[in-house]
This record gives sequence, C-alpha cells and structure tokens, in this order.
Amino acid sequence: MALVNENYLKLKGSYLFSEIAKRVGAFSSENPDKKIIRLGIGDVTQPLPDACIKAMHNAVDEMSNAKTFRGYGPERGYDFLIDKIIENDYLARGIQLDFDEVFISDGAKSDTGNIVDIFGGDNIVAVTDPVYPVYVDTNVMSGRSGTMGDDGKWSDILYLSCTKENNFVPKLPDKRVDMLYLCFPNNPTGTTITKEELKKWVDYAKENRTVILYDAAYEAYITEDNVAHSIYEIEGAKEVAIEFRSFSKNAGFTGTRCAFAVVPKQLHAYTQSGEKVQLNGLWNRRQSTKFNGVPYIIQRGAEAVYSDEGKAQIKETINYYMENAKIITAGLKEMGLSVFGGVNAPYIWLKTPDGYTSWSFFDKLLKDANVVGTPGEGFGPSGKGYFRLTAFGNRQNTIDAVSRLKSIKF
Ligand code: MLT
Repeated sequence: MALVNENYLKLKGSYLFSEIAKRVGAFSSENPDKKIIRLGIGDVTQPLPDACIKAMHNAVDEMSNAKTFRGYGPERGYDFLIDKIIENDYLARGIQLDFDEVFISDGAKSDTGNIVDIFGGDNIVAVTDPVYPVYVDTNVMSGRSGTMGDDGKWSDILYLSCTKENNFVPKLPDKRVDMLYLCFPNNPTGTTITKEELKKWVDYAKENRTVILYDAAYEAYITEDNVAHSIYEIEGAKEVAIEFRSFSKNAGFTGTRCAFAVVPKQLHAYTQSGEKVQLNGLWNRRQSTKFNGVPYIIQRGAEAVYSDEGKAQIKETINYYMENAKIITAGLKEMGLSVFGGVNAPYIWLKTPDGYTSWSFFDKLLKDANVVGTPGEGFGPSGKGYFRLTAFGNRQNTIDAVSRLKSIKF
C-alpha cells in the first residue's frame, strides 16, 4: 500500500492565489458581461524589454544551427549570466561573490520553496506575518509546522507580527529559531526596514546560528537610500544568509521564468552531532539532482537585462508601475483609508474599512467594483483586516480600478 505524505493533508484545500482565481472564475461565469480588473496576484502586465526580446531571438537562431546549438546547460547556470549578475548586482554595491555561489533557477518561488530540502526536519522556523504563503506551506509539506491552531497559526512555526502598530517592522524572536524567512521590500505589505534594522537580524542570526532565507525579489523597486538591495550589504551577512532574487518583477519574466539564489560558501548549518556543513555544497547537490537548468534562450534574455539598453528599458517599466502605485495610494487616501507600502515596492497594503474583514472586502470589491485584490488574511493571521492591491496592472486599468473603488459605498 502506497502511503501519502500526510503533511499535505494538513494544508488548506488550495494555494491562496488558486483560491482567488477560483472565486473570480465563478463570479465571471455568473456575470459574463462584467469587465473584471485584476489587481490581485502580483503578475506583471508590461511586455519584456526589447533588449531581452532581441537577445532571445538571437538565441533561438543559435539553436537552429548545429554549430551553435546547445543541449543541457550547466546546472548552475551559464557563465555569461552569472558573471553579469555578480558584476552588476553585487560588485557594483561593493559585495564580492565567487562564481560558484550563484545558482540560476526558474523562479524565486521555486527556490524559496525548494530550499527546505537541505534543512533538517527538526528546525524551528520563523516567518514574518503576514507572509508570502510559499514559505509556510513548504514547511508544512516537509513536516516542520505542527498543527493548525484556532488562531490560524501553525503550532511549531513562530510568527513575527507586522502591523501598522509596529510600523511593519518585526520584533526579533523572543526565542532562538533555526530558519528565518525575511522578505524586503516585503510581499505582501510593500513595506521595508532600514539597513540598521536589518543589521539587528544579521547579528541575531550570528548569535543564534540561525540561517536567514532572504527574499529580495522586489529590490529593483527600492527608492529610498537607507534600504538594502542585498542582505550582503550588511557586514557578516554572508555567514548567515541565503539570498533569493528574480527577473520576474524587475524585467517581466513571470512567464519566461528566470531567477537566482546566492548561497555563500561561508554559510554553514550543522549535523545533529554538531558538525559544520557548508550549505553551498548541499544546494548544489540538490539542484544538480532535481533541476536541469533554465533554458539557454531564457538565460540569454536575462543577460540582456544588464546591457545599457536593457537597464534603461527596465527602469522605464519600473517607473511605470511605481506611478501606478502612486495613483492607487492617492485614490485610497482620498477615500479616507489607511494605506501602506507602495514607496519601495509595487504593493499597496490597506486597512479595510470598519465592518469589513479581508474576505468580505474582497467580495465587496469583486461584486460592486469588479476589481480583484488579495485579502490580507490569506497571507497570515496578522493580515486580518488588511487588503493588498498590486501596481502591476496597466495604466488605464489602474485608473479605472481606483475610480470604481471611489464610487463604492462602504
Ligand atoms: C504575489 O502575488 O504575491 C506574487 O505574484 C507571488 C509570486 O511571485 O509568486
């Protein structure tokens, strides 16, 4: 008799964004004449930069010729892309990385989800709350969660609450934890912490031999100086942190898929008997066994992100989305709502009006304005009474969504 991984049975029926898609699908088939504006999932709407498209076309041509054809690529990624990443994302900020510390992948979602494979089952996990559901669900799947309580929290996971009361700056854990997920600029709240705050986390991790899993997928949206683009800007972070980055949100690769993880060689975890083990080697072993690399064509496209033309085009698109963020923020403020984020991130986090839960607000917006957002509660218990809108829509939809929201009576 084949047994199932019963941890999966503990999970809610569907992943947050699948649940939303299901509800929107049902509404849409009952109301086929309604034009729905989707500001729910953080998916981009602007096309890939022209520089990337050209590079991908060239790479397709190379594939058509036996002399330049490529089969399996290096599992870690092609040198041409890794070199560009190190030079532009790290050396330019004074951070030295070795070539074999960077691993190209098909997404930060996959990386932050798969990373649990290399950690022991008894590790204590901490997450900021609200949180990108992948961090929690993958720890449930791999048996680190315990049981779900009435408060919406897993018994073995430590939740570090981020609400307007603490300015969305999580407090350091009051006990030691082994794996700590941080995401800045934050998804879902769109807020950030300063470099000084981030240093406290690095110091905590050093003292407690904690590994920080640092998701920096939204770093391209940072506008303020005192916010780190990489955790390695903080002294000592290479000894305690893995960093996840992505081409999805800066260059529109949500559909084409390309990202990378940095696993420094100074970073270690331990065996039960206290022996130090380099995580870089374990991740390499995991990836080379379970993953066969990102397609050559896509990696050529990602390389073009770092060309002068690519950099200029990306900047333009990011400015476009951040202008949307301003439009949404201004509209919601005019409605008298409390609004957060949207300054260093493409997400706007709002407090739902009195009398509305996250999900009743979701239903109201869908029904009365035909606008889709994401209920804060879907990201964790501290998201109760909050709601997320993304700035990744196109301009006209964003303007229309705001004006529809303004016309609703709450
Ligand atoms: C989100 O909406 O939170 C993001 O699209 C999630 C993701 O990038 O997977």
